[in-house]
Amino acid sequence: MASDVVTALESVPLFAGLPGKERKKLARSMKERTFSAGSEVTTEGHGGVGFFVILEGEAAVAVAGEPVSTLGRGDHFGEMALIDKGPRSATVTASSNLRCAGISAWEFRPLVEGSGELAWGLLETLVARVRETQSRSSG
Ligand code: CMP
Repeated sequence: MASDVVTALESVPLFAGLPGKERKKLARSMKERTFSAGSEVTTEGHGGVGFFVILEGEAAVAVAGEPVSTLGRGDHFGEMALIDKGPRSATVTASSNLRCAGISAWEFRPLVEGSGELAWGLLETLVARVRETQSRSSG
């Protein structure tokens, strides 16, 4: 992975607590993925094996065809289907040209198991997403 990606990962909040050496190792195991504006990165109900961190661009998250969130630089997505091996919970579409760092399911689990900081960061985002879903269903 290009050295600018190693630098970009330094400013990703999820990875902020990782020691520099760990972050470099992580950057080496991630692959750069680009998506053109309008393309679907994940499709609700389908399977998926990638976890992504946005390096550049924006993505729209929709559930049952309804927009629920917008993600940008430093945000991550794709963790849910990797954690429970279930289908994608939402459709994530590139709203601009999108540059991501991606990691496969089989590398994601050992990565999370190896860092309490990282696991906590993922939990925080998951809780925010659950609360967001609750507020939509009660509203
Ligand atoms: P996953 O289910 O693997 O694939 C779709 C992803 O969209 C999901 O993981 C989350 O990363 C993300 N996602 C799901 N629901 C929300 C939400 N309410 N807000 C932001 N992102 C979400």
